[in-house]
Amino acid sequence: MQLKTNEIYKDHFKGKTYNITTFGCQMNEHDSERISYLLEDIGYKKTENRDEADLILFNTCLVRENAELKLYGQVGSLKKLKEENPEKIIVVSGCMMQTSVAREVIEKKHKEVDIIFGTKNINSLPDLLFRYLESGERVIDISEDNVKDDYVNYNSKNNFQAYVNIMRGCDNFCSYCIVPQSRGREESRRPSHIIEEIENLVREGYKEVTLLGQNVNSYGNKSDFNVTFPELLEKCAQIDGLKRLRFTTSHPKDLSDDLIKVIKKYDNICNYFHLPMQSGSNKVLKDMNRKYTKEKYLERALKLKEEIPGISISTDIIVGYPTEDEEDFIETLDVCKKVGFDSAFTFKYSPRPNTKASKLTPINDMIVQDRFDRLLDTLYPIFNEKNKEYLGKTVEVLLESESKNNREVLTGRTDTFKLVHVKADNSLIGKFVKVKITDHTSFTISGDLIS
Ligand code: SAH
Ligand code: SF4
Ligand code: F3S
Repeated sequence: MQLKTNEIYKDHFKGKTYNITTFGCQMNEHDSERISYLLEDIGYKKTENRDEADLILFNTCLVRENAELKLYGQVGSLKKLKEENPEKIIVVSGCMMQTSVAREVIEKKHKEVDIIFGTKNINSLPDLLFRYLESGERVIDISEDNVKDDYVNYNSKNNFQAYVNIMRGCDNFCSYCIVPQSRGREESRRPSHIIEEIENLVREGYKEVTLLGQNVNSYGNKSDFNVTFPELLEKCAQIDGLKRLRFTTSHPKDLSDDLIKVIKKYDNICNYFHLPMQSGSNKVLKDMNRKYTKEKYLERALKLKEEIPGISISTDIIVGYPTEDEEDFIETLDVCKKVGFDSAFTFKYSPRPNTKASKLTPINDMIVQDRFDRLLDTLYPIFNEKNKEYLGKTVEVLLESESKNNREVLTGRTDTFKLVHVKADNSLIGKFVKVKITDHTSFTISGDLIS
């Protein structure tokens, strides 16, 4: 039946256009790359103009409420467009669709949406499209698993930087977090599949690979193969021709000395570590179910700095967790000063459906805002000082794109993930160059092209 349907619609999508809006983390970005690959495989072409597209897709996130509300707003704004152009296809996918609460809002209140699917059945998209065209009725598929472990390169950001999934899901159940619901239980990909994928990417000319997982340090824990994350990272680093290797995200509770040793040993493993702290208070960390203390976090971060001089460390911080009081918050500021973070993602706590923390009474908004402002007032001068250390130094930069504000300026990253601005010709995008740093802000460093 399916085959017949595919046959009928074989040429249907040729020349049609699609547009994807992606919310959330790198995992969602990479999923969107897969979605693009699948759509282009059946004939679609990408367009940046959403209203013009024949197929409009939203790949959603619900880690915080604002991402969710934004999605409802953006989908809702297409109601009229769909009424006037009923042949347009509107699709909603991703993490939000994995939880019944958010899915029901789309199902009940957003009749303009034609196709709904989840994080585990991305590969069904072509079939869902055929089914939708066949029936003319809304199609929903949140069924478990059709993840293909194939070696197709579906990276589409550019032709020199790629993401590689090494695991999916999360088993940590931090009390505030919805990801274990949206992405399911932790599962690691086979090391041989990961290595083969990276070897292929390097052969195709990719220079930088970022390994993706919600908690890469627990890689291999529940698997039948005996490979830990430091061992996997070492195997990846040994791949001939791979210039830069990054990974995200690490949970502090599982950051081992072995991992630090591997980072230190290989030049192509970047000297950058994203180590989400969430809070500096032992009471709050316990309430969050993070399974480490302030002391342990500090010890790990300082060990990284001691073993790998010049390493940059970034973090995630949540302010206003329901049990956080002023003293707890001061402890968070204290860790920020002691570690000296290079950058940080800062969030106000947002209650998420069916999480443990959502049953607690939230703190007053004004108090949270005040703490949030004070956190930034503490962090920005620290970032500024860290960037100042680069003045006068010559750094190697992988140039990524033209700057949004000035097309004569290119942006790129150092090995330490510093965002660099440099005047250079756009033919150098995708190349490594040397830049002498002459200026900085709290968020960027900039300078002159040397070679
Ligand atoms: N797996 C990663 C992060 C996933 S979510 C890790 O454990 O580090 C990215 C960040 O979103 C988290 O680190 C946390 O800081 C933030 N976050 C998650 N749930 C949140 C919530 N309910 N409210 C505010 N911030 C949240
Ligand atoms: Fe969420 Fe915690 Fe898992 Fe990270 S480790 S995804 S914060 S539950
Ligand atoms: Fe990522 Fe958001 Fe899903 S942070 S895993 S896209 S809920």
